[in-house]
Amino acid sequence: MRENTPNFELLHGLESTYDQIQKVALGGMAEIYRGRQKNLDRPVAIKRIRPDLRQNADIRERFRREAKSSANMLHQNLAHVYDYIQIHDDAYIIMEYIDGLDLAEVIEKAGALPLDVATIIAIKILNGLSHVHAHGMVHRDLKPDNIRISARGEIKIMDFGIAFDPSEGNLTMPGILIGSPHYLSPEQVTGSRLDNRSDIFAFGITFYEMLTAKRPFYETERESVYARIQKASYIDPMQLRPEIPVFYSQIIQSCLQTDPDKRPTNVNRISATLIEYLARNYSLSFEARVKQFLMQNNLMHGDPNLIDVAEPTSPGAKSGMGASLSRAEKIKKWVSKFLIFTAGLSAGIVTTQHYLRIQKNSDASTENSTTATSVPAQAQQQPQASPPNATTKQPSTTKPSKSGKARNKKRSN
Ligand SMILES: Nc1ncnc2c1ncn2[C@@H]1O[C@H](COP(=O)(O)OP(=O)(O)O)[C@@H](O)[C@H]1O
Ligand SMILES: [Mg+2]
Repeated sequence: MRENTPNFELLHGLESTYDQIQKVALGGMAEIYRGRQKNLDRPVAIKRIRPDLRQNADIRERFRREAKSSANMLHQNLAHVYDYIQIHDDAYIIMEYIDGLDLAEVIEKAGALPLDVATIIAIKILNGLSHVHAHGMVHRDLKPDNIRISARGEIKIMDFGIAFDPSEGNLTMPGILIGSPHYLSPEQVTGSRLDNRSDIFAFGITFYEMLTAKRPFYETERESVYARIQKASYIDPMQLRPEIPVFYSQIIQSCLQTDPDKRPTNVNRISATLIEYLARNYSLSFEARVKQFLMQNNLMHGDPNLIDVAEPTSPGAKSGMGASLSRAEKIKKWVSKFLIFTAGLSAGIVTTQHYLRIQKNSDASTENSTTATSVPAQAQQQPQASPPNATTKQPSTTKPSKSGKARNKKRSN
């Protein structure tokens, strides 16, 4: 068994419980390792404060709070914390290892996401946020770098490093930039009091970025990012991508209001609208669709056995919305096809009967005339109620039925 060989790192104090420890990421505040919990034989992520910040007592306190706040929230759209281990001045957060990619990486590699995929991810982010807000907490650092997409198509909000937990009170960290400037809300820029509406602002930015592969707020020659955030000065996403539904643009606009009072207060209302829209246009399970998108864009690394085959879908699925019909729509389509078929069949029967009647009349008049054309008895007796097969095969009025053709042939002989 591979156990802390030269390729693997030793994190002091963890050897008895975890092995195969390998550094996988370096964030703004922390290093992330992947390891294996030996007794349960499961992968774990181990988060540790960066060495250059470890001496800062405020940061260590912040790290402890991050562990505590996230450990008390259990939700499928939040990274699940298993444990917090403190050893002298060092500390580790042990959490589920999310094998996959950060949303920022996905956007960087794939560009603007298909509308349905962006919508699914948005819904999942909102679900996770709803849970955070229900705990009275504010994430305060929501952005594509802090959202992880697993190989199974799951979406998880990570990094509660600067989350506000009312049970812990305020904690300032002088000298440390909190959050990337591009994702700050106006109230973060001015240092005003924050609440869940700041996360809604950050959601608006993230949704915009998923749909356009561009950040709404960026520096220009004349204006700083901060100035543009405060003025809500950004290009309408529909200008960058015309197929974006108008109401998506309206959702973003409402989230990016400078005045928090004008933003939606409840994330569930936004997700309900998106779910309803998606349900009308799409039938794949959310995870299956995200997984399918990752596979189509060759974005999947890691263990291919983790990836189940995506559910079957129509060929247009890649382009997104409306790609696949809902079950109700499929049933409707089949019923209408059946009705059209039945109508065609009835028309065919009536037409054939009509045709046979004319033939019979003309045969009778031919027999009555002096012309000596013999008509076979079988054809003469062609009944008004002809066998079903004869009528169903040729409902058309322009072409004679098969039996009619045969009879005409015989007649000409
Ligand atoms: N549970 C996890 N599973 C897999 N990768 C993770 C996990 N947590 C973090 N990472 C990776 O590490 C990076 C930094 O982690 P994060 O919690 O955002 O730390 P920071 O506070 O330094 O930004 C993430 O962007 C992600 O790529
Ligand atoms: Mg982060």
